[in-house]
Amino acid sequence: MTEKSDTRGIMMLLKLEHLLILFLRFLLIHGQYGDTAATVDWATQRSIYKGIYSHYYNNGTPLADIVPVSDLANGALQVNMSMTLASLNGFDAVSGQIDISGSMLLEWEDEVVASTLVGSLLNTTPGVSADVLVDYDKAWAPNIVLVNAVDTVKDIGDTSYKLRYSLAYPNTATVNWEPRILLRASCTPDVTFYPFDRQVCDFTYTAWGYLSGEITLSVTSSEWDTTAAEANGVWKIISTESQTFTTDGSDYVRFRLTIQREPLYFTFNIALPILLLGLLNGFVFLLPAESGERIGFCITCFLSFVVLMQTTMGFLPEIASPMSLLCIYVFLMMCFSVFINITCILMSRIYQKPAKEKVPNWMKTVVRVVGCQVCRCLQKPPRDPYPEVEWPDVARMLDFFFFLSFLGSQASLTFFFLLPLATRY
Ligand SMILES: *[C@@H]1O[C@H](CO)[C@@H](O)[C@H](O)[C@H]1NC(C)=O
Repeated sequence: MTEKSDTRGIMMLLKLEHLLILFLRFLLIHGQYGDTAATVDWATQRSIYKGIYSHYYNNGTPLADIVPVSDLANGALQVNMSMTLASLNGFDAVSGQIDISGSMLLEWEDEVVASTLVGSLLNTTPGVSADVLVDYDKAWAPNIVLVNAVDTVKDIGDTSYKLRYSLAYPNTATVNWEPRILLRASCTPDVTFYPFDRQVCDFTYTAWGYLSGEITLSVTSSEWDTTAAEANGVWKIISTESQTFTTDGSDYVRFRLTIQREPLYFTFNIALPILLLGLLNGFVFLLPAESGERIGFCITCFLSFVVLMQTTMGFLPEIASPMSLLCIYVFLMMCFSVFINITCILMSRIYQKPAKEKVPNWMKTVVRVVGCQVCRCLQKPPRDPYPEVEWPDVARMLDFFFFLSFLGSQASLTFFFLLPLATRY
């Protein structure tokens, strides 16, 4: 439990650090904008802002809901999207959720502003450009929503981030909007190879309410930008992918993230204890039967398996298909523990067998051969007679046999279950 709260503490610190970095980056970007923006004076900027605002406000009839394309018959409005990952905050296999943060860049051409306003607002020499920031609510913007969101159905990003209108003479008006995003999406976990599992998570976006004939979504790159992404303690990013598809007449963009668990923590906390416990359990056959501790020892081992099984289950989602191989492995090791238990009980009966019950002859032979008494008696001199074989001798031989066979079968089980898992890493 303390380990869990420790990792939680570390995660909190990481998150704080991450927020700080985001803040610094925010400052940096805005600083850059400040440097390169406005090649026009304040008064021109004011008139541009007023122009865009009154164009969309239109004397009380807001036009902010009409797609700014002069004629839809000539083609839909194209919105370019690209995703930048800042950090992977976590993947919860039990509830099937993934949390990420980053930013999303949306870009489109505002044809109407371009054709009706730019010429008159920038009535200067060609090549002059100007940037203004316009409130999200005061102009048109595509309502992009995350389809598989878990905790919200609102637009992505916060509307307090402004739209950046870049006007260039004679007729260009490019708008870009880059909100910071904190996403929590559902992602069906696949824990078959836990703790060496790989998860594929999709973030699917659509321009809610618009058909592909009105808005076409496209991606500027087939991958996400992960250059500045922060490392995650548990998950490693394997690959990213972005692509578009059309369903039911609407355009969708799927941003796909493939991540892989760093297995060390779980290997040390689950797989190794199970292995060691299995080893320990086998050693019960080397415990002297006279000490009377055997059954207690076996039961303790069995209970430890139950506890480990519970712990393992706690890390895994409650889904039946596909079952985690690790769960099956722990279950089989538990079965071994039960068999060892039963064998111990039967063995104690053999130890306690009354001496007047004769040991069968074939059993005597086996004990002599295995115990190498035969070779000892072949030595000469001295040529002793064979010592008499009693029940405890038989039991001791069986003890040794069971010790080896249980260890051997547990080792091969481990080999067949854990090796294929480990080679996937
Ligand atoms: C969107 O992307 C296409 C192809 O990458 C490009 O030709 C177009 O200019 C972009 N549109 C905007 C508004 O950036």
